[in-house]
Amino acid sequence: MLEVNGIDIFRGEAQILWDLTFRVERGEVVTVLGGNGAGKTTLMESILGLHHPKKGNLLFLGKSITFQPSFQIIRMGVACVPEGRRIFKDMTVYENLEMGAYPSKARSSLEESLEWVFSLFPVLKERKRQIAGTLSGGEQQMLAIGRALMSKPILLLLDELSLGLSPKITREIYGTIEKLREEGVTMLLIKQNATLALRHSHRGYILETGRITIQGTSQELLGNEHIRKAYLGM
Ligand SMILES: Nc1ncnc2c1ncn2[C@@H]1O[C@H](COP(=O)(O)OP(=O)(O)OP(=O)(O)O)[C@@H](O)[C@H]1O
Ligand SMILES: [Mg+2]
Repeated sequence: MLEVNGIDIFRGEAQILWDLTFRVERGEVVTVLGGNGAGKTTLMESILGLHHPKKGNLLFLGKSITFQPSFQIIRMGVACVPEGRRIFKDMTVYENLEMGAYPSKARSSLEESLEWVFSLFPVLKERKRQIAGTLSGGEQQMLAIGRALMSKPILLLLDELSLGLSPKITREIYGTIEKLREEGVTMLLIKQNATLALRHSHRGYILETGRITIQGTSQELLGNEHIRKAYLGM
């Protein structure tokens, strides 16, 4: 579904990603784990066409997206839950969800998508007239995920899903990730620290200062001594 082949990404003068190669297959959940400043957010933004590579290429559904503008990539079916959520705080829950359905093919099935999102997050239905900025942190994260789902994405990118959330809310959100995984939604989880993310994934990659250093099935990564010490707090 997504193929990233040897990309070099620069931000200003600085090279952030080095010869990065990885892939996500249809129906897979894949985790990219990396420490502070490793380049995780830059990687997600690169998939969304916000940074273009100096070397290498990206394919989505077999088509090159290397130099496509973001709106085209989103129109092709990539959605994201950005780091820090970035919901529209002055708008209601309902209006935020409506905004998520802006790609034209998603608009026609707005009602159906709303029902889907409300079934995954019943609390959003209860609060659909509430101003989004007044939701709790966990509810805001649910809204950010719900908004991304409103575009009926083929590939969902999630950056730091559980940052700042309580263990209880985090488990709840991973429960929803598991449901989406069962429904066959393809997801890329980008994480700093991630026993839970790996448990809910098929495969993973370790990103260290802009380079992929380790890759494997989630089972392999969960059993790796270096990863357990550096990323899983064990
Ligand atoms: N606008 C920018 N201009 C130049 N360099 C930047 C810019 N934004 C980020 N960087 C640099 O890119 C590198 C990777 O940052 P990025 O945000 O991708 O890391 P991250 O893995 O997401 O980190 P975190 O875990 O803190 O979210 C860092 O060294 C950062 O200083
Ligand atoms: Mg980041």
